[in-house]
Amino acid sequence: MYSRKSSAGNIRFNNSYGNLGTIASLTFSQKQALNLSWRLLKPQASACFRKIFLELEIASPKVKQIFYKAALVDAFNKDDDNSATLEVHIKLTTKFFDELLATLDDENEFVAKIRGIGSAHAILAKGSNFSSDIWERLGEIAMERVCSHEVVTKTREASRAWRTLIAILIDELRGGFEGELRQHRKSSSTDQIEMGKVEDEEELHSKLQQLRMDYNQTLPYT
Ligand code: HEM
Repeated sequence: MYSRKSSAGNIRFNNSYGNLGTIASLTFSQKQALNLSWRLLKPQASACFRKIFLELEIASPKVKQIFYKAALVDAFNKDDDNSATLEVHIKLTTKFFDELLATLDDENEFVAKIRGIGSAHAILAKGSNFSSDIWERLGEIAMERVCSHEVVTKTREASRAWRTLIAILIDELRGGFEGELRQHRKSSSTDQIEMGKVEDEEELHSKLQQLRMDYNQTLPYT
């Protein structure tokens, strides 16, 4: 077991994922193996990601509630761009892997993409109780499902590369999520001191999103 400092600055002990490398540590043939196996996996990606998200819903009832709320918002909105249901997430995750695997040679961009997704979910922490353990459960389930897929187990290179990729993915999703939460808490306490301060557009946007989630919490579940 060893530890590494994630870009969020936290020391993470590497006891659950085995060999947690970095993208830069992937060999040329491991990157090739990732791209090739993703090409073969992609036609089955929807089925695979559906199983992963459904398993996550079972492992964490909070996830089921969050997706349920998202479906309710959809029923009112009819706005595809803001849709975040489980079914939409299957498509989002497929697109995300497409984009991610295209940036294997640029570690900064690779990490920024993942952290961006992690931080976009921080808004769900307050009204919907999204917490870091959801990312951990997602990592465990994805590791099991993806790494036991025949396309991945076919070669040692692919197996190792996917384990590394998923470990980094979860580490950075969590890092982005927690970083944004810290930022939000910091600016919320500053807000209390500096009442009336003009907020920047991003802050305003996330407050509006929060309002939307809080509003949805008042809707009956059944
Ligand atoms: C690899 C995993 C995931 C990916 C790639 C992903 C991707 C995304 C993306 C791209 C967005 C839109 C963000 C924006 O532009 O503001 C989003 C939002 C959202 N995601 Fe995920 N997500 C993941 C995991 C999850 C999980 C596990 C949950 C459920 C608990 C979840 C629930 C939501 C919800 C409810 C929103 C809407 C947030 C809002 O109101 O703005 N996501 N996700």
